[in-house]
Amino acid sequence: MLHFSECHRTPGLRDPLPAFHTVSSQEIMKTSLFLSPAAQLETECLVAVVLDRGDKDKTEAFVSAADKTVQQAAADLISSGDVTGKNFETTWLHSPSGLKAKRLLLIGGGKSEKFTHSDLRKLAGAAVRALKPRKLRSLAFVLPDAIPAEDAVRAGVEGALVGDFDPDTYKSDRKDQRVEALTVVASGDQAALQVALEQARVVGESQNFTRELVNEPSNRMTPTILADRAKQMCKENGLKCEVYGAEKIRELKMGAFWGVAQGSEEPPALIVMRYEPAGAPENPVLGLVGKGITFDTGGISIKPAEGMEKMKYDMAGGATMIGVMRAVALLKPKVKVIGIVCATENMPSGKAQKPGDIQTAMSGKTIEIINTDAEGRLVLADGLCYARHLGCTHLIDAATLTGAVVVALGYLNVGVFSNDDSFYQRFATTLAKSGENMWRLPVNDEYLDMTRSSIADLMNTGGRWGGASTAAAFLREFAETTPWIHLDIAGTAWMEENKPWIAKGPSGVAVRSLIEFAREFGKD
Ligand code: BES
Ligand code: MN
Ligand code: ZN
Repeated sequence: MLHFSECHRTPGLRDPLPAFHTVSSQEIMKTSLFLSPAAQLETECLVAVVLDRGDKDKTEAFVSAADKTVQQAAADLISSGDVTGKNFETTWLHSPSGLKAKRLLLIGGGKSEKFTHSDLRKLAGAAVRALKPRKLRSLAFVLPDAIPAEDAVRAGVEGALVGDFDPDTYKSDRKDQRVEALTVVASGDQAALQVALEQARVVGESQNFTRELVNEPSNRMTPTILADRAKQMCKENGLKCEVYGAEKIRELKMGAFWGVAQGSEEPPALIVMRYEPAGAPENPVLGLVGKGITFDTGGISIKPAEGMEKMKYDMAGGATMIGVMRAVALLKPKVKVIGIVCATENMPSGKAQKPGDIQTAMSGKTIEIINTDAEGRLVLADGLCYARHLGCTHLIDAATLTGAVVVALGYLNVGVFSNDDSFYQRFATTLAKSGENMWRLPVNDEYLDMTRSSIADLMNTGGRWGGASTAAAFLREFAETTPWIHLDIAGTAWMEENKPWIAKGPSGVAVRSLIEFAREFGKD
C-alpha cells in the first residue's frame, strides 16, 4: 500500500520503490507457435474468427480457419443463426466436439471481403479482453486463413499484447487479470513465422512500455523519473543514454525549453538516447524528438480546473520515443537513430515565464510568449534544433501539442504535418502496416505568417483558427531545411473510453508506426 505521505514533491526525491508496473520478462505474456491442426491443441480456450461472406441483405457466417474440425465444432451455432460474424460478437462454446480445447470462443470479424490485418489485431485484443474477467490465463488463437500467415502472426501477437494492458495500477484491490500465455495457431514456414512472432512481441511490449510511462501520474513521473526510466531501458537494451539538467540546457542556449522549465521546482531533463549500430552508414541519421511535459498546468496562462488531471499525459510524445527506441534496440535496423525527449513540467510560479516575455531559442530565433500554455512547441523548438546539431538528417517529432487537432480530427486520427512530400510518402506507406490512423494536415507558409510577432521573430501562438497548423508551422521553423514530420497526438494518445480491443487510458499511439518506419528507413 502506498500512502499520500509517501508522495514527495521535492526535486528529484520520490518513493524509494514506486509501485511501477514495469515490463519485466516474467510478467509478460509468453508466446508460442503451434503449427499442427488446431483440433489437436490442449488449451483452456481456443479462439477462432468468424467472418461473414454474405452481402448486405443476408449474412453467411463461417469460421475462417484452416482446420475443418474447428469449423465443424461451430457448425450448429452458425446454422442456427445465433452466430453472425458481426464485429466483436463473442460466443462461448464449452467442450467443443472434436477439439481437445476446453472451450471455443468464437469472435466476429465482420464482412470477409473487408477483413484486414488491422481488424485481426483488434480481434486478438478483444479475445484477450474477453478472457481476462473470466480468470482464464491462457488462450490459443487460431489465425484466420483470410490473412497471409506472417502478417497474421504479427497482428495476432501485437493485438493480444495491447489488449492485455490495463491501467488500474494503483487500485488496492487490483486483480491481476493478465493473460499469461498465448499460443498462435498458424500454418506456414516455421522459421519465418517464429521471426514474425518475436518481432511482434517486441513491438507490442514496446507499445505497452510507452503506455505504462504515460499512465503514471505526474507525482510519480517527474522529468527526473522519466529520465531514470529511459536510462534503465537504455541500459537493459544496449543503448547509449545521456541525461542533461538545467545547467546544460542553459549552456546549450535552449532559451525556449528553459523558459518553460524555469517555472517549476522539479528539475527538467534533456534525454538523449542513441542507437548507433556497428556497420550502419554515417548518413542518414533519424532523429526522434518527443514532447515530455510531465504535467501541463498551462503555466501563468493557467488552464481551467476541469479536466486538468488529464495533463499528466502531456509527456506521451516523449514516452512514445522511449518505447520506439526500446524496439529499435531490439530489432536492430541498420541505421542510426537518436531519440531526444525534452522533459519538464509547465508550472505557474514566481519564477515562471509570463506572457509578453521574449525567449531566444537555441537556433537564435526570438520568440514572444503570448500564451504560456503553448509550451509544447517551445520545448520542441529546441529539441528539433538540438537533433540537427547532433547530426540528424531526418526528423520526426511526436507531441500532444494542440487542442485544435482534436477539434479537426477527433479522437480518431493522429494529425501529420511535413515539410517534405517524399519523406512523408515513405512514412505513409508504413501506416498501412501498423494499422494506425493518421491524416495529413497542411503547414503552408501562410500559417507561419499568423505567428509573426511585432517585437520578435515569432509568437508562440497563431490566433484562434487553424491552431494545429500554426503550431506545426512554428515547429517547421526549427526543423529548417531538414526533412521533418510532426505527429500531433493530442487527440489519440489517450483512449477516452474502453474499447473491445483496448482499455480506456494511454493508447501508445504512433509507437508501432514509428517502429515500422525505423525498420523501413534502415533498408535502403
Ligand atoms: N498539452 C496541450 C494540448 C492538449 C490539449 C493535449 C488537449 C491533450 C489534450 C498544449 O500544451 C496546449 O495547452 N495547447 C494549447 C495551445 C494554445 C494556448 C495556443 C491549446 O491547444 O489550447
Ligand atoms: Mn499547454
Ligand atoms: Zn502541453
